[in-house]
Amino acid sequence: MSRPPVTDWETDFDHLDPAFVADPYPIYDHLREQCPIAHTDRYHGVWIPTRYDDLAAIAHDHQRFSSRTILITDRAESPTDLGFHAPPITEAPPYHTDIRRILLPLFSPAVVAEYEPITRTIASDLIDAFVDDSGCDAAAAYAQHVPIKVITRLLGIPDSDHAQFRDWIHRLVEQSPLASDSTYDAIIEIGGYLSSHIEQHRTHPAHDVITHLLDARLPDDRLLTRDEILGVCILLLLAGIDTTWSAIGSSLLHLATHPDDRHRLRTEPDLIHTATEEFLRAFAPVTMAREVIEDTEIGGCPMRKGDRVLLPFPSGNRDPNAFDRPDDVVLDRQANRHFAFGVGIHRCLGSNLARMELRVAIETWLERIPEFELTDPDAVTWSAGQVRGPRHLPLTFTYR
Ligand code: HEM
Repeated sequence: MSRPPVTDWETDFDHLDPAFVADPYPIYDHLREQCPIAHTDRYHGVWIPTRYDDLAAIAHDHQRFSSRTILITDRAESPTDLGFHAPPITEAPPYHTDIRRILLPLFSPAVVAEYEPITRTIASDLIDAFVDDSGCDAAAAYAQHVPIKVITRLLGIPDSDHAQFRDWIHRLVEQSPLASDSTYDAIIEIGGYLSSHIEQHRTHPAHDVITHLLDARLPDDRLLTRDEILGVCILLLLAGIDTTWSAIGSSLLHLATHPDDRHRLRTEPDLIHTATEEFLRAFAPVTMAREVIEDTEIGGCPMRKGDRVLLPFPSGNRDPNAFDRPDDVVLDRQANRHFAFGVGIHRCLGSNLARMELRVAIETWLERIPEFELTDPDAVTWSAGQVRGPRHLPLTFTYR
């Protein structure tokens, strides 16, 4: 469906407008200064707060701002109204807390550290496939596959179905979700696919997330239902793939276009830890949403029950009141309380895993391909929707 182009970002914001998809940062800068909480009548009416402090206030206030609507769509109903639950993200306490408690041990620093060697092997094997060429599409041939191969291992499902995952993610997350038959079909397809793997795990338990969920008990000693396990698995698959894919791609794009940073990271490898935090701040891929469930007011804007609110964490991360030189990538930035993983009760559960994958993907790339540049800036394409990252990133290798 074609949409009229935006002419006034303060009153007619559209996160799917091609100008926004191509470069959202000047638009956020303008709004932060001129209209810090914008509003649009599109998508049944949405508020768009852009300042760090307002975003933090809303994300921390789960009593008034519910995650039952985390995606802004053409539909008036929330995904939960349509029967789609993806615990813990779509849920509220105390159930949210119960499900989070079950999942947290799976993503602890110690467990994530166990996955680091295999992640390094995955990254290196991917590079083997193109290292002898003159270049590659780093988004499609590299960044995309690292998180797919890691999360499928964690869940206990085959990574050979990666083309299918990519198609589902495109239909569910990028194509104005829940707006079309194709999106509904994607939910049914992904449900059917994961259900059969869950059933297989009942008879063939393994050391993986699906088996952990099958054995887990809620505080009332109840086992999770098939639908609860399915919802969690769908969330992990969706949350774990295009987010990290986007972060790796944006970081490689930065390094391809900033030779000084590339050189510095190679000669001062210990900087990788602050550098990955800085990439996450500067290129935060994820924008979430909330639904107002109790009348309230933020920054002088009256918000009514049923209103929707976009939470553009990427805008908070570029707020000059929160960060010095917010538009510069400072590899050794020390104070960096960024919002890439959100804040509040829904803060990213996979942040340890995401950080490890991003760090290992960049380290391995720089070891194997020390010098590279962007082949053609016009050939870079970006995902549309609430997760932003390069989907085509042609790089030329220049180290030989
Ligand atoms: C660079 C990569 C990633 C980024 C930027 C990211 C970002 C986010 C953000 C902004 C939120 C939510 C916030 C909110 O609504 O307040 C979130 C939630 C979540 N993320 Fe991530 N994420 C990433 C990778 C991952 C990975 C690898 C996994 C696990 C496989 C994961 C699992 C989750 C889950 C389960 C939630 C829901 C938590 C809850 O509701 O309590 N994420 N993530």
